[in-house]
Amino acid sequence: MRKTIKDLLELKLRNEKIVALTAYDFQTAQIIDEFCDFVLVGDSLGNVFQGKETTLSVTLDEIIYHAKAVNLAIKNAHFCVDMPFMSYQSNVDKALENIGRVMQETNAQSVKIEMNEDLLILIKKASNIGIPVVAHVGLCPQSYNIYGGYKKQGKSKSEKDYIYNLAIDSFKNGASLIVTEGIPEILAEKITKNIDIPTIGIGAGSKTDGQILVTEDMLGITPLPRPSFVKSFANLRDTSKKAILEYKKYVKKNKSS
Ligand code: KIV
Repeated sequence: MRKTIKDLLELKLRNEKIVALTAYDFQTAQIIDEFCDFVLVGDSLGNVFQGKETTLSVTLDEIIYHAKAVNLAIKNAHFCVDMPFMSYQSNVDKALENIGRVMQETNAQSVKIEMNEDLLILIKKASNIGIPVVAHVGLCPQSYNIYGGYKKQGKSKSEKDYIYNLAIDSFKNGASLIVTEGIPEILAEKITKNIDIPTIGIGAGSKTDGQILVTEDMLGITPLPRPSFVKSFANLRDTSKKAILEYKKYVKKNKSS
């Protein structure tokens, strides 16, 4: 059975780390589901699957298309879908309509949004309706153009305070889980200790309740350089190239197949 938001909270309370990865397709989702507590159809779809520099061009229809495929594979993990850029920021009613579409069409159990203070009301309304919201704080990839690239956040005291307060306020307004990306470990730890919902970190040290990576980075499929915090547990890019070279030799040798 799929893990619920309550199951993830249980893991935090039992001090058991939450294992999380991303997927954009059925095959990958089926492989990771067995080992993961949380699977995200991330808008990193834009970078990883579509080969773009940013996530900004990912559309609601595209994320729904991929999430429908992933949905068919998820039997064990919690299933979360990212809300793409401008599908939830313009106004609360439109955001709720789009979140509703994702929940109804993909069978997601929660949605993730990249946070700022204006969106606290959206978390409150969505959670009042019964939709678990994952609040993404710290480095928010949809703010790429404000940062001038993918830059670590929370360096100055004012940035640290902003991120901390945003995480606390997200929790107080009904968020079910916090993703902390690209922030100092000490800040991620402070957030984790001061809220009663799980935190999942990426590039935020080891003190969060769980860890998430982009599956293609972790498997060594995406080309180098990868973000500095990414630990690759395999080199499937090289393994694939070797296999494809073998196939090429095989085809060339046997003139008819
Ligand atoms: O889009 C994504 O894949 C993400 C995770 C890496 C947290 O936001």
